Amino acid sequence: MKGLILSGGKGTRLYPLTYTRAKQLIPVANKPVLFRVVEAIHDAGINEIGIVIGDTGPEIKETVGDGSRWGVGITYIPQEAPLGLAHAVKISRDFLGDERFVMFLGDNVIEGGISSLIKQFASSEWNSQIVLTEVPDPEHFGVAELNGDGQIKQLIEKPKQPPSNLALVGIYMFDHHIFEAVDAIKPSWRGELEITDAIQWLVTNQRKVFPYVHNGWWIDTGKPTDMLEANACVLEELTPYIAGEIDAVSVVDGRVTVETGAQIINSVIRGPAIVGENTRVENTYIGPFTSIYHDVVIKNSEIERCIVLEHSCIADVPLRIQDSLIGRHVTVKHSTRKPKTLKMNLGDHSRMWIP
Ligand code: DAU
Repeated sequence: MKGLILSGGKGTRLYPLTYTRAKQLIPVANKPVLFRVVEAIHDAGINEIGIVIGDTGPEIKETVGDGSRWGVGITYIPQEAPLGLAHAVKISRDFLGDERFVMFLGDNVIEGGISSLIKQFASSEWNSQIVLTEVPDPEHFGVAELNGDGQIKQLIEKPKQPPSNLALVGIYMFDHHIFEAVDAIKPSWRGELEITDAIQWLVTNQRKVFPYVHNGWWIDTGKPTDMLEANACVLEELTPYIAGEIDAVSVVDGRVTVETGAQIINSVIRGPAIVGENTRVENTYIGPFTSIYHDVVIKNSEIERCIVLEHSCIADVPLRIQDSLIGRHVTVKHSTRKPKTLKMNLGDHSRMWIP
């Protein structure tokens, strides 16, 4: 079996972070989402992975490399524009050949343990397996309606009036029949070749499509709030370890990971939380569900349920920072200068909330 990861697209809803970075490379619990996807595929025993890339391809190639760090081979498949998930399958045909494959969306984060499902498909006689889960807002996803016997009645992409609350999760398994389907369908109203339409084509043409209903958590990390939620879920699953230094007066409570070279000085950390390599935390409170990436400095501040990316500095902030996504090389500092004003250097599409 082979793996195909879709990592094209623009990530506009995560601006400004994604002006300069592929959305699939934003870390949750200090690991890029895309790395988690590669690992999930590798855990299913798959060693050949294709990654579909778009405008952000050069950065993805540089960060992910040839796959040797995971012991997998990676082939990059350039897509001229985000013309749809089924279009991405179409252009990957040479790479996939006639093998069965699992396709993962590169910005989806799912509860661990999905690899047994992939392994099961590898030896099954199904032409396709899809993963469904109940969501409160099905109109934002591909939606499946099932028959009384649990088989697929119909699949619709982002329906205005959803026939059920079962969304298609961004993990799909196929055999070579999917190529017939992607050749047969036409672009949707949004101008994309929809994988949902291709799977509906398989169903209509009596191919065997098995719907698996996933009961754990799953997050499509499109928006900043999704990133924070995914971060919280992954932190809950992480096995903590301490590789950095914690001084005698600091309190580290609950499931906290302190990575190599990190220093915790006179601070309190309540897990689940992670402090990245060579990060310094001083006279600070770090609350649950916080991920601080590498080479960050946090001094005399309080922070909770946040993601802070590399090389940022937070110092002397008088209010607790909460539910925030802070990018790379960002400075958030208290100033004693007069006049007492708010001073900002915010990029396009930045958002700031002032109490
Ligand atoms: O997240 C699950 C949903 O993903 C499904 O429920 C929908 O049925 C499915 O269409 C898809 O919907 P989205 O509108 O959320 O897909 P999005 O455009 O965000 O693309 C998902 C990933 O695929 C993202 O990592 C970018 C990549 N992509 C997307 C397109 C359209 C490509 O690599 N090439 C593309 O042409």
